Amino acid sequence: MKPKILIVDDRPENLYSLECMLADDDREIIKASSGEEALKIAFQEDLSLILLDVQMPEMDGFEVASMLKSTKRTRKIPIVFVTAISKEKKYMIQGLEEGAMDYLFKPLDIDITRAKVNTLLQFYAQQKEIEIKNQELNALNEEKNYFLGMASHDLRNPLGNILTLSSIIAQEAGDKLPEEHRNYLSIIDSTSRQMLELLNKLLDVSRIESGDTHPVFKKFFIHDLILSCIGENQPYALRKAIHLDYSIADGIPEVNGDQQQLSQVLSNLISNAVKFSYANTTVEITAEQNESEIIVSVSDQGQGIPDSEQKYLFQAFTKTSVRSTAGESSTGLGLSIARKLIESHQGRIWVKSTAGKGSVFSFSIPLMPAGKVASGQD
Ligand SMILES: Nc1ncnc2c1ncn2[C@@H]1O[C@H](COP(=O)(O)OP(=O)(O)OP(=O)(O)O)[C@@H](O)[C@H]1O
Ligand SMILES: [Mg+2]
Repeated sequence: MKPKILIVDDRPENLYSLECMLADDDREIIKASSGEEALKIAFQEDLSLILLDVQMPEMDGFEVASMLKSTKRTRKIPIVFVTAISKEKKYMIQGLEEGAMDYLFKPLDIDITRAKVNTLLQFYAQQKEIEIKNQELNALNEEKNYFLGMASHDLRNPLGNILTLSSIIAQEAGDKLPEEHRNYLSIIDSTSRQMLELLNKLLDVSRIESGDTHPVFKKFFIHDLILSCIGENQPYALRKAIHLDYSIADGIPEVNGDQQQLSQVLSNLISNAVKFSYANTTVEITAEQNESEIIVSVSDQGQGIPDSEQKYLFQAFTKTSVRSTAGESSTGLGLSIARKLIESHQGRIWVKSTAGKGSVFSFSIPLMPAGKVASGQD
């Protein structure tokens, strides 16, 4: 399709000379002799560029531009003001603020006019191409999320069957089996559990990416969240002889957030701290408050993370060179899920870590704005 250029001027002789200057088989030129007519055409046609006279009776070029910029359909069309008046800075700035991309000064120089028009047409064509590519990418991404969700969901049932049936065999016939076969059963059990955990995380990623996990905001005490996550991770920490400790600053008000989602975040941070630390160390969970947020941190005396690898930590499927200390499994999804969940709470998540010394992972949740009632969906 040929690009369409709209030229707007109240004087027919100006329109005529501009048309002659820009005429080309590869483009279509449309003329308007007033601001009103220009707006009407701009809302009907797919324009690639508008050359707009500034001084026109009734509606001047600045007004036309500001209306075009305030409407979604016409917002992105490049506008060039054509003006005789002044090259005065204040007029130029006003024009640029109204959304002009450039200026042309009368009397028009043919070469400059043509060169500007060609460049802006190219610019607009590239913008359109990027927009189309973005739409295609979004559609592909949605398809990927759909597939990821379906595949993880559908694989969970057969995996559940494998787990149940192998545990029935272990319980009812385990003592009749040779030790080697009992070992096989226990490998089936642990591998299936790892797979189930991975599928659940993939399902989380697909739900989060397709925007399906809106936090359900309710008020609760950070104390409860911390104690329940410590309870959840305590057996694991004990097995590795790692001590879980906590300290909560006095007077922290209730948090407004989705307790289940925040518990998933904190639990991943604690389990990471345990996973990447050695025996006889301490993992400490703290909560404090500044003027606008509550900050929860998990610090460990583990291996720390090399500086160069820290920037990738919150991306999906990122595993650093730091390995778990007791052969625990690692899918590299926990922190990316945590980041998405914290962002949906308008919070922040970050890390401070020194290789060989340990890491402090922190996240923040904004304090409830004064007077806001936290009940149900926000
Ligand atoms: N406290 C920590 N100390 C050292 N390295 C860490 C720590 N926490 C995370 N990492 C590094 O960051 C990587 C990503 O962590 P993330 O929680 O996303 O995934 P994971 O723990 O490997 O797997 P999972 O999906 O089961 O959580 C880990 O594989 C590890 O290399
Ligand atoms: Mg993890």
